[in-house]
Amino acid sequence: MLTIGVDIGGTKVAAGVVDHDGQILDKVKYPTPANDPGGLADVVGKAVAELCGRQEAGSVLAVGVGVAGFVDEDRATVQVAVNLGLRDEPLKERVQERVGMPVVIENDANAAAWAEARFGAGRGSDHIVCVTLGTGIGGGLVMGGALHRGRFGVAAEVGHYRMVPHGRRCACGNHGCWEQYASGRALVAEGQDRARTDPQAAERMLKLADGVVEQVEGHVITQAALEGDQAALECFGIVGEWAGLGLADLAAILDPECFVLGGGVSDAGSILLDPVRASFARHVSGRPGRRLAEVRLAELGGEAGIVGAGDLARH
Ligand code: BGC
Ligand code: NA
Ligand code: ZN
Repeated sequence: MLTIGVDIGGTKVAAGVVDHDGQILDKVKYPTPANDPGGLADVVGKAVAELCGRQEAGSVLAVGVGVAGFVDEDRATVQVAVNLGLRDEPLKERVQERVGMPVVIENDANAAAWAEARFGAGRGSDHIVCVTLGTGIGGGLVMGGALHRGRFGVAAEVGHYRMVPHGRRCACGNHGCWEQYASGRALVAEGQDRARTDPQAAERMLKLADGVVEQVEGHVITQAALEGDQAALECFGIVGEWAGLGLADLAAILDPECFVLGGGVSDAGSILLDPVRASFARHVSGRPGRRLAEVRLAELGGEAGIVGAGDLARH
C-alpha cells in the first residue's frame, strides 16, 4: 500500500508518494498560495491528483498533510498558522473533498519528527526532540515511540516560545519568539542586514545575489558559507547561538536523548551544527555533570515532512 505525504510550508507545498519503508517514489512541488485557504486546498488536490495519475490505479490509499501551524487534537482543523495566514481552517474536510480518500492532518514539524524517529537521525533513540529551522521554527516530540501532541494537539510549538522579553515582533502577535532569532527568516534577515550595512564585508553574498540585497536568500548565505565566506559564516554563528540557547531551555524541560535539527537551515550541515552544539553546551543547565543530549542533523532533510505525513496517514 502507498500513501501520499504533503508538506505545506511557508513558501512551498511539496508532495510525494511514500511507501512503507519511508521511501519517496515520486514528488511534486508548488508555491504556497498566500492567505488563500481554498486555493491552498486546491493546490493540495492538484498535487495529489498528479501523483496518483502516475501510479497504478488504486495503489494510493490515504493522504497525510503536514501543515506549518497549530493543528487541533482531532487532526482536522488548523487553529492558526501565522506564516500561512490561516485561522480556524477546516483543512481536513477541504482536502478530503478534493482527493476522495481518507486524510490525516498533522503539524509539519510533528510529521518531520515522526519521519526522523522512524527512518532518519532519531532511529534507535527513544526520546527525541526534533526542531525544524525553516521559515519559522517547528518542534516535534517523539517519546517512547509515540508522537506527543499535548491535550489540545499543539504541544511542541517551540517556535513561539518567548526567548527575549519585549524582543522582536512575531507574526503570532507576541514579541521575542524563538523563531524570530533562529529560523531561516532570521538567517536571511541577518544576511540582508550585513549586505545593507557593510556591503564590503558582504561582497561574496551580494555577488551571489546579483548585487541585490533582497536576493540575499537562505541558499545564497549557505553557499557563501560553504565557500568559507566570513560574513556568511558569522550569520550562521549568530543564528546557531540563538538555536543552541533554545535547545538548552528545551533540555531543561524535556531531557531528550537527542535533538534532531531539520528544516532548510540545516542544509548547511556542520556550518550550522557546530555553533549550535557549542552554544547548547555553553548554556545548558547542570553543567558540568549533567549528561548532554546529542545534537544531530536531520537525515531526511527537506523530505522529512513528506515522509512523516505519508507514514502517519498509513498508521
Ligand atoms: C508554526 C508551527 C510550525 C513551524 C514550522 C511555526 O511558526 O507555529 O506550527 O510547525 O512554524 O513550520
Ligand atoms: Na509541532
Ligand atoms: Zn510567535
